[in-house]
Amino acid sequence: MPTIANRVAGFSTTIFTEINELALQYGALNLGQGRPDFDGPPDVIQALIDGLRNPTVNQYPPGAGALSLRKAISDHTARFYGMDVDPQKGVLVTAGATEAVFSSILGIVDRGDEVILIEPYFDSYLPNLAFIGATPVYVPLHPPNWTFDPDELRRAFTPKTRAILLNTPQNPTGRVFSRDELTLIADLCKEHDVIVISDEVYEHLVFDQAQHIPIASLPGMFERTLTVSSLGKTFSVTGWKIGWLYGHPSLVEGASRAHQFVTFSANHPAQIAAAYALSLPGTYYEEFQSMYTVKRDLLMKALTNAGLKARQPEGTYFIMADFSDIFDGDDIEFARYLTTEIGVACIPPTFFYSHEHAHMASTQARFAFCKSDEMLQQVGERLGKLTR
Ligand SMILES: Cc1ncc(COP(=O)(O)O)c(C=O)c1O
Repeated sequence: MPTIANRVAGFSTTIFTEINELALQYGALNLGQGRPDFDGPPDVIQALIDGLRNPTVNQYPPGAGALSLRKAISDHTARFYGMDVDPQKGVLVTAGATEAVFSSILGIVDRGDEVILIEPYFDSYLPNLAFIGATPVYVPLHPPNWTFDPDELRRAFTPKTRAILLNTPQNPTGRVFSRDELTLIADLCKEHDVIVISDEVYEHLVFDQAQHIPIASLPGMFERTLTVSSLGKTFSVTGWKIGWLYGHPSLVEGASRAHQFVTFSANHPAQIAAAYALSLPGTYYEEFQSMYTVKRDLLMKALTNAGLKARQPEGTYFIMADFSDIFDGDDIEFARYLTTEIGVACIPPTFFYSHEHAHMASTQARFAFCKSDEMLQQVGERLGKLTR
């Protein structure tokens, strides 16, 4: 008796699971998965506990999300980006950004449509397209600066293109797309009548002079963009799995119809706490960025001292580093070696590329720095063994 449907038969255990298991077995400091090893802000946690004391909050919320959270998302979008989002029909609360991307695809893309994926891409995007029978069209970011070739991007647009999946600030490269890059993408989308699904879960994790620009805020783009974000990254509560999307009501409609039959609604008490969190004053967001700047600098120093060519990220909590000066193998061999022999776990990024372009990242490793400063210092000590 076949026990696995053809639809999922090709999905193997993810690289995150393999590296997590290896890290545990070898006692490695785990910079693999982007999972903070510290807690969210105490008042945000308290808001969740307070929410639980309200009996109505322990029952189903409206499918689109608690109105207080939809209003907080609309206010947050106006406060940071000056965009006017309708909290009634222009916002949908989901079980994490992961569901927001999937419900967007289900609600917008048909079987046989082409969807442009910028590589390296977040690992759920491709299986999501496979579920509905859409065709991915790949546009790689080229090392060492992780920029796309404008001609490669232009060539990816065809009469069959329905959508492009964008992620900025970008996991795993740490790129924050510039206004010029976003304008080129926007112009092509307008020319070819294409919808953008823009995953912006790291919207508040930008460093130095970098500025996060939602593509929806560019002229003529609001009506053709679904913007996705998540509570987990900005408030260090990845386990709550509260995400959302917002956009023009005509686009949110399709995603909402799909969401009714994917999860129907997301965790109600966490939505109440999310509304509180998003309303925190600007100082919260500034301190959050300062905390992460220290962590980024600690890891940059550790990697550089060990002889890796690490690219300083403008955003996210990931660093991509080229190890070819110190190791003669591919990225999977390096990740296994580093985890088992040196005691530091990282992720091999070829898993975020199509087979055709995987070679572009074969001398790179992705390190997450959403970890305590003490752990990042210890990483520096362990990586010292590499050069010796
Ligand atoms: C680019 C990107 N999108 C989406 C997610 C998932 O977000 P959530 O946990 O809210 O589903 C992640 C988490 O690592 C991510 O890096």
